[in-house]
Amino acid sequence: MPIRAFVFDAYGTLYDVQSVLERVERACPGRGALITQIWRLKQLEYTWLRTCMEAFADFAVVTRDSLAYALDVAGVAPNEALLEELADAYLHLTPAPEARQALGALSGRTRAIFSNGSVAMLDALVRNSGLGGMLEHVVSVDAARAFKPSPKAYALVEPAIGVPPGEALFVSSNGFDVAGAKRFGFQVAWVRRGGGPGTAPSAAGPTEMFRAQRLHAERLHAEPDHVLGSLTELAGLPGRN
Ligand code: 2OP
Repeated sequence: MPIRAFVFDAYGTLYDVQSVLERVERACPGRGALITQIWRLKQLEYTWLRTCMEAFADFAVVTRDSLAYALDVAGVAPNEALLEELADAYLHLTPAPEARQALGALSGRTRAIFSNGSVAMLDALVRNSGLGGMLEHVVSVDAARAFKPSPKAYALVEPAIGVPPGEALFVSSNGFDVAGAKRFGFQVAWVRRGGGPGTAPSAAGPTEMFRAQRLHAERLHAEPDHVLGSLTELAGLPGRN
């Protein structure tokens, strides 16, 4: 099947969600890893719960609420100034180390982001990271009022980019997103950076718990078409036209 467009997940795939750690550690010394990992786990959990409850909220709200939860777990009072300072880190995430080069190698093709992020969050992130000129489309789930992996969310991609799911390669490092996009009908590449078989944690600290939850193959019976070590491998995939 030809690949007419590359559709990237944002958080965790094109952008490193772990890059908030430095800022969190500076604000909450000694508790950065715990807060960072609980924050991301809860953020995703809230997207699923809100979609199930049909109680959609802007991803900025979900991001703040999950941060407040994580601070609470770490015994840090989630006051307004701290929430504002740390939530802002999501607008300044560091791109994955190979993201710029990988997007550049696909120049001339249709490249899009499709993300849980709100339009405002994604616009700020793309602008702040300087990746805007390498993306033809930035698509948010906002209009569907449902988060991934709801089919209502993935259905927004085709009208936005003008390419049907079967002719687009959906690229994500998030296992639930891989399964959701595959079930919806996209060709899918799972970017598996670390994790996987043979990487049993030596100790169950917050980072190992995060890796255990997020970096292994999901048992959701919707396998990706490609498993990539990094975004760099995209340019060499068969099926490009
Ligand atoms: C994103 O939609 C799944 O959070 C991830 O960007």
